[in-house]
Amino acid sequence: MTTAISIQQVGKTFGAVRALDDVSFDIITGELHAIMGENGAGKSTLMKILAGVITQYDGALVVDGNRAAFQGTRDAEASGISIIHQELNLVEQLSVAANIFLGRELTRFYGFLNHPEMERRATVILAELESGIAPDALVSTLRVGDQQLVEIARALMLQTRILIMDEPTSALTEAEVARLYRVIERLRAKGVTILYISHKMDEVFHLSDRITVLRDGRFVQTVATKDTNPREIAHLMVGREISVREKARTIQAADVVLEVKNLSLPWPGRAGKWRLKDVSFRLRKGEILGVAGLMGAGRTELLECLFGASEHRSTGDILLDGRACDFRHPAQAMQAGIAMVTEDRKRLGLFSQLSVGENISISALSEVSSAGIISGSRERAAVTDQIRTLRVRTASEEAGITTLSGGNQQKCIIARCLLTEPRVLLLDDPTRGVDIGAKSELYQLMEDLASNGMSILVTSSELPELLSVCDRILVLKEGRLTAEFAASDATEQKIMEAATGPGL
Ligand SMILES: Nc1ncnc2c1ncn2[C@@H]1O[C@H](COP(=O)(O)OP(=O)(O)OP(=O)(O)O)[C@@H](O)[C@H]1O
Ligand SMILES: [Mg+2]
Repeated sequence: MTTAISIQQVGKTFGAVRALDDVSFDIITGELHAIMGENGAGKSTLMKILAGVITQYDGALVVDGNRAAFQGTRDAEASGISIIHQELNLVEQLSVAANIFLGRELTRFYGFLNHPEMERRATVILAELESGIAPDALVSTLRVGDQQLVEIARALMLQTRILIMDEPTSALTEAEVARLYRVIERLRAKGVTILYISHKMDEVFHLSDRITVLRDGRFVQTVATKDTNPREIAHLMVGREISVREKARTIQAADVVLEVKNLSLPWPGRAGKWRLKDVSFRLRKGEILGVAGLMGAGRTELLECLFGASEHRSTGDILLDGRACDFRHPAQAMQAGIAMVTEDRKRLGLFSQLSVGENISISALSEVSSAGIISGSRERAAVTDQIRTLRVRTASEEAGITTLSGGNQQKCIIARCLLTEPRVLLLDDPTRGVDIGAKSELYQLMEDLASNGMSILVTSSELPELLSVCDRILVLKEGRLTAEFAASDATEQKIMEAATGPGL
């Protein structure tokens, strides 16, 4: 066994935050080493140090026996280390191939870019990833899952020996995850060392040889995966037992708040294909309604239509309190009392130039504030209150939003939605990238909100999550509703069958 990277007393301070403190452990050549820890534990920070993204830190890195002094990602890449970031890091205005070759463009005579060759090689790599993404497609037109694959392709192009994956599956469907696992197997067969960050226990236990747990920036323990279990790891992460929640809520028959009748959304350029087709359902006051389905089944599109955020016009009826509404813009939906937490926080959710507090209080729409929902000092108090209830880990309200860990950024988006005091809350995969402790807090919060009369429509790619929190679950397959289950008789098995089977 040789040591690929030795992490020695590494520390990192951002302003008042000690993100990493005296962290030491070794990565063995060829292993898949998982890093776990709560949101803000310091995982991404440590990975950024290994990948040369962060160059100022305390302590030392020894790579292949030599002390590393990376001045940037290029130095790390030259040592064979590359990273797939948690928050995708692509240039949206460029093509897939251009992103894969960014900074290492292939040229022909006189330095002209060799587009055909880059596109050809990109196609080969993408095919290796079992992906049919067109190399000349603009990255901005891809959904999150495909963007992530482009990042992976970029790392593969570099002939990486040590690959860091920071929550690579957080935006992938089950099928894509299975595909990623195959890619990982192939990389391991080639001897690539993999550092793998994830909040998903099953995934970590399926893939890893060893697990290192960080807590509050400190090293807790490294354990061999075969010698431990999820319960022990959870305990190491949070330093206390986490109770498994029992579903206790039963809801009474209540008024219908939102009714959707025959909602259809055409698939532009695909005659006869539908993003959504004849979707009808009712959402009652105080109800938590889940929407299950594979990625591409229309979950996000459904929520976007209800929120007036769909690029294309839908047909059918959306009735709020019995009144037909036809939102052309999210501002109108928000005024009517609908709020949405989007799945893609970087693209649709956050304002990277603004502070944590501003991101929470910003209601991009003056209508909302002038409607008297929030103003001035009440606003600040409300922001402080949300930061506390959601336990957002931030140095202060004035800190820049990009200084927060991924999971904490997600909490800010949820906080912002709650500030508008919506009657209907649309949550698109809200616990993506959120640690297990914060997840159970979020479920509790959803139940509290529902008990106070808020109606919630929630999608998730994690079925156990929907099963534990929803009163009812709808299943979408290729844009159509194929099943509806009461919480009491829904099972993962039944939902998967409805999501993948021959359908109605
Ligand atoms: N550029 C920065 N400026 C200030 N603080 C930062 C910066 N980057 C990270 N931090 C802080 O360092 C701590 C560790 O953050 P990090 O992103 O490493 O957490 P993480 O373990 O990856 O969490 P998550 O699971 O949410 O992704 C957090 O408190 C975070 O707010
Ligand atoms: Mg992180």
